[in-house]
Formats: sequence, C-alpha cells, structure tokens
Amino acid sequence: MKLFDVYPIFDVEPVSGEGCYIKDHKGTTYLDFYGGHAVISIGHSHPHYINRIAEQLNQLGFYSNSISIPIQKQLAEKLGELSCYETWNLFLCNSGAEANENALKVASAFNKRKKIVVFDKAFHGRTSLAVAATDNPNILFPVNEGAEIIRLALEDFEGVKKELEKEDICAVLIEGVQGLGGIQTPSRKFMAHLRALCEKTETVLILDEVQSGYGRTGMFFAHQHTEIIPDIITIAKGMGNGFPVAGVMIHHRFKAAYGMLGTTFGGNHLACAAALAVLEVMEKEQLIQNAKKMGAYLVDQLVGLPGIKEIRGFGLMIGLEFDFPIADMRKKLLYEEHVFTGSSSNKQTLRLLPPLTVGTEEIDVFVTALKKVIS
Ligand SMILES: Cc1ncc(COP(=O)(O)O)c(C=O)c1O
Repeated sequence: MKLFDVYPIFDVEPVSGEGCYIKDHKGTTYLDFYGGHAVISIGHSHPHYINRIAEQLNQLGFYSNSISIPIQKQLAEKLGELSCYETWNLFLCNSGAEANENALKVASAFNKRKKIVVFDKAFHGRTSLAVAATDNPNILFPVNEGAEIIRLALEDFEGVKKELEKEDICAVLIEGVQGLGGIQTPSRKFMAHLRALCEKTETVLILDEVQSGYGRTGMFFAHQHTEIIPDIITIAKGMGNGFPVAGVMIHHRFKAAYGMLGTTFGGNHLACAAALAVLEVMEKEQLIQNAKKMGAYLVDQLVGLPGIKEIRGFGLMIGLEFDFPIADMRKKLLYEEHVFTGSSSNKQTLRLLPPLTVGTEEIDVFVTALKKVIS
C-alpha cells in the first residue's frame, strides 16, 4: 500500500531532535523556527518529557474512559492552576479540530441554537463543523456543507452587533491570534465588544487557542493580553509537545451530562503524561516568561531588515510580512541555511513559531540566516 498523497513535502527527513534543533538522516542539523507547526513547546526530546511518558508506558499505556483515570484529574488541576482557570472543567480529546467541534456542541447544548459567527482568514480544523468554520473553500466538500456559518471581517464591530442582536447565534468562534491567517490579532477593543455582545445575547464566546495558547504569546493564552474571559477555550498543538492531545476548557456554568461528549483515545494515560510533562517543564523553566523575553529580543533583531513591511504578533508567535512572496526565501532558509520556518495563507508572510525554550544564541543564528537570504 502507498500513502494517500495529500501533503506537498519538503525533501528533508528528520530522524532526531534536541531542544531547538533537529537532525536529518544524512546528519545535517536544522534550526527549528517552525516547531512542527506550533506544536513543539518545550523543545525536542526534553528529558523530563521522555521520562514521564516512558514511566507511564511502563505502567499502563491505555485504558478507556469507562474507568477512573487519576492522571486526567492531575492534568486538569495543573492546567487550571497555570492558566488561571481553576474553577473551569476540562474535556480531553485528540486534535484541535475535535476540540472545536466539541466546543461548538457544548455551546449548542447550552443555548439550543445553531448559527456560528466566525471570521475571515480563520482556521479551525478539518472536521465537518470546524472546516465549515474555516475560511478555505478548497478544503470544504459537499458532505461538510450545511452548517449555518456567518463569516465576518475581523474588527467588523457593526457586523457582529447586527448578527448577535438577532439573538439566534449559538457561538462566536475566534482565534486568540490567527495563525494560518498570517498572525493577525483581534484588538482588545474588538474582544471587549464581542464579550459584551455575547453576554447580552446569550451567545457563547469560544476562544480557539489551539495555536496561540500554551505560553506561545508570552501569556498562557493570547486572550489574556486582553481583559476578557471567554466561555470556552480550545487547546491542542503545544499541549502535548507532539503527543496527540487536545482539550476543551469549559466555564463551570455549563453543565455536563453523561454521554454528551465522548472519545475512545481522548485523555488516555500516555497523552495525560505527555501533557503534564509539558506543564511541569513550562513551570519549572519559566517558558512563558522566556517566550515574552525572547520574542522581544527577536523582534529587536528584525526591525529594519530590508524587505520587511510589518512585524506582527506577540512572544514567539511572529508574522513577518515582506514586500515580496516568501516561498523562495523559505526554501532557501531550509535548503541553504538549514532553518525551518512557517508559511501562512498570506503569501508574503513568514511565520515564526520556535520552541518556547529558544534562547538568544538560536535567535542570532536565525537572524544571520535570514539576513543572508534577503541580501
Ligand atoms: C487555530 C487552529 N485551530 C484548529 C486547528 C486544527 O488543529 P488540528 O490540526 O489538531 O485538528 C489548527 C491547526 O493548525 C489551528 O491552527
């Protein structure tokens, strides 16, 4: 059997990783400023991460959600503590799309409505409802159609007001910082506007922090740069540092019922061990503070480089908009300078998502490489 050929791939075959670096099968070392698509939070092959997963595997790798799994409770407690959402509840699942899908179910179970307000350039995943909410008709097929989606521009204050005041919108789904959309951040004022309108109209405010969460922006969640508190938060990517694990964080006023949500693999012992290891390392090594500090250092080094039109984002979630398409430059960074970076739906925007452990030394290596390819 061959693989179903859906990924256009780069000609690199990484076989090992350590910290911010990965090594390919020929022995070439690459600097990882992409984090495997914002997934690598605590760095590749962190010893605590390896040990915690290995210890769990030696005890029990998996059993279903029909039995007591104390490590799920430990994870919920630690996550509540570090994110400052101690009184909320956690539903564990396997991917960002699944988290969004479940968040929308919780919202709909609560207010019995079905319309969803989403924003231009948003990416929320590829399962049916999540892909309908995503702004990309190329990945939407007839079986995914049928959801009642209202798409508005980010910062469309009037449009949001007009829709929500009809009092038939189930949820507003918004990314803390748009990732694939090219690192676009909703303003504090817009978030406050959404919060107030949702409150007034009993609409559920869902923050998709799948990419912008887990310390990446220099706060635990990107929305914590604003004053608002959402109703539901979805998490994935950096949560497991590569181990597939995701979650829906749910305000305590939403009531759970047996059978309302469910999954075979979600919250399994290994996934919880991986997610706990991530939080423990983030806390011990103060990675959120590091993301903030290193993000500022990185931006300082980038300001004024030729061709850069705009630098967007916070912490270690940075978008560099150039005055030319970046595809060739990204290839040069990879094949000539051995640096991984990310693209976005904006063809001129390079996305930087290094591990949160990155230091000035690695940033200097990146900036030197970037200068070479833009000179
Ligand atoms: C903001 C956001 N939401 C949801 C998803 C979907 O996550 P997954 O690919 O784990 O389903 C992604 C993935 O890139 C994302 O960036």
